Amino acid sequence: MLSFSLLPVTALALISSTLAADTCNGHAELCSRQYSNVTFIGAHDSYAVGDGLADNQDKDVTAQLNDGIRTLQLQAHNASDGVHLCHTSCSLQDGGLLSDYFGKVVSWVSSNPNDVVTIVLTNPENLPVSTYSSILTSSGIDQYMYQPSSSAIGLSDWPTLGELIDQKKTVVAFLDYQANFDTEPRLIDEFSNMWEDAYNVVDASFGCSVNRTSGQPSAQMYLINHYLDSSYALGGTQFWIPNKDQLNVTNSESGDGSIGFHVGNCVSLWGRNPNHILLDFYDAASNAPFNLAASLNGVSAPTNTVTAGSGATASVTSGGTAKVSSSSLNSAAVISLDLKKGLYVGLSVVGALVFGIGRTVL
Ligand SMILES: *[C@@H]1O[C@H](CO)[C@@H](O)[C@H](O)[C@H]1NC(C)=O
Ligand SMILES: *[C@@H]1O[C@H](CO)[C@@H](O)[C@H](O)[C@H]1NC(C)=O
Ligand SMILES: *[C@@H]1O[C@H](CO)[C@@H](O)[C@H](O)[C@H]1NC(C)=O
Ligand SMILES: *[C@@H]1O[C@H](CO)[C@@H](O)[C@H](O)[C@H]1NC(C)=O
Repeated sequence: MLSFSLLPVTALALISSTLAADTCNGHAELCSRQYSNVTFIGAHDSYAVGDGLADNQDKDVTAQLNDGIRTLQLQAHNASDGVHLCHTSCSLQDGGLLSDYFGKVVSWVSSNPNDVVTIVLTNPENLPVSTYSSILTSSGIDQYMYQPSSSAIGLSDWPTLGELIDQKKTVVAFLDYQANFDTEPRLIDEFSNMWEDAYNVVDASFGCSVNRTSGQPSAQMYLINHYLDSSYALGGTQFWIPNKDQLNVTNSESGDGSIGFHVGNCVSLWGRNPNHILLDFYDAASNAPFNLAASLNGVSAPTNTVTAGSGATASVTSGGTAKVSSSSLNSAAVISLDLKKGLYVGLSVVGALVFGIGRTVL
C-alpha cells in the first residue's frame, strides 16, 4: 500500500496500459468478458483429418486455428509408442501422437498471444492423469495452461479473456475422466465445470438436453455437440459416421437443423448461449459458424475467409455411391457393402468393427 501510493500517477497509468491486452480473440470488447461468457467454435475430433470413415475434419490443427477454431476436442488412446489421438480405435483412425499435436498448438499459441484456445480432452480408456502430465511438460504446452485455484470454478469466477492473455495463460484445458486437481490442476475436470448435450445424434432436432453428465445448467458452462451422424448396423455392431450430405444445412447459421436452430433450442431451455459449439467439417459452410459466434458474442464478423477443404465438399449425393474409406486404413482389400448410401469400407475397418470395438464412441 505504501510503496504503491509513492508511485507517480503517470507511472501507474503506464503500468496499467502496458499490462492490459487491447485485443482478445480478435476483439477489444472480449477483453473484459469472462471466459465463461464467450461462445467459441470448436472442432470435434480435431486430429481426425482426412476422408476416411472415422474422419471428422478437413484441415490440420494449425489451419483450424488460423481459420478461427478456438476449441479443440481430442480423444486419447494408449499405444506402444505413447499416447495417440485416435477416433474410437487406432486401427480405425490414427491422428498421431498427442505430443506432436500439442507441439503444433504450442507453436500457434506462442505466435498468437492474444487468443485464448480451449482443449477438451476425452479419455475413453481412463488413462491416469500422470500419463498426460509428462506430455504436457515435454511438449511445452504446460507453460501456457491456465491453472485455476479450485477444481470447480463458478460461472462468475472465471477470469476474463484479457486476464488470461495478460498472464500468458491462453490455453484452458479440460479432461472428461480421471482429472485430479491435487496432482494435475492444469487439466480441469470437465464435468465439474461444464455439461454437454447429446452426441452421436442422427436426427437434426438438436434438443439441447443435458447428456453425458447430470450437469448443473444454472452454475456451469456448456458445450453443444452440433454434428449430425448417420448410423449403420454392420455385423451386429452399430456405428456412426458424419452425415456429410447434410453438412451445408448442419453447419449453416439459420434454418431447421442449423447451428442457430440448435443454439435457439438451448437458449429457450437454459437462457444463455452455449460456451463451446463442436462441429464436424467446420469449413463446409465457409464463414457461417464464425459469423454466428460473432453475433452471439455481440462483436463484428471476422474478416478472414474460410475456404472449404476437400472432405467437406465431397458430400454423399442422394442415392449415389461414396467412397468413404479404403487404403488409408491399412488394407489392400476393399469390399463393397450394399448399405443404403453405398459405402466402401476397408476390410480392416470391418474387422475392427466386428471384432474389436462393439460401439463407436464420440
Ligand atoms: C453472456 O452474457 C450475456 C448477458 O447475460 C448472455 O446473453 C449470453 O448468453 C452469455 N453468453 C454465454 C456464452 O454465456
Ligand atoms: C500403455 O501401453 C504401453 C505399451 O503397450 C504399456 O506398457 C502401458 O502400461 C500402457 N499404459 C497405460 C496407462 O495403460
Ligand atoms: C443422451 O443422448 C442419447 C442420444 O444420443 C440418448 O440415447 C441417451 O438416452 C441420452 N442420455 C441421457 C442421460 O440423457
Ligand atoms: C444444401 O445442399 C442441397 C443439395 O445441394 C440443397 O438442395 C440445399 O438447398 C442446401 N441447403 C442449404 C441450407 O444450403
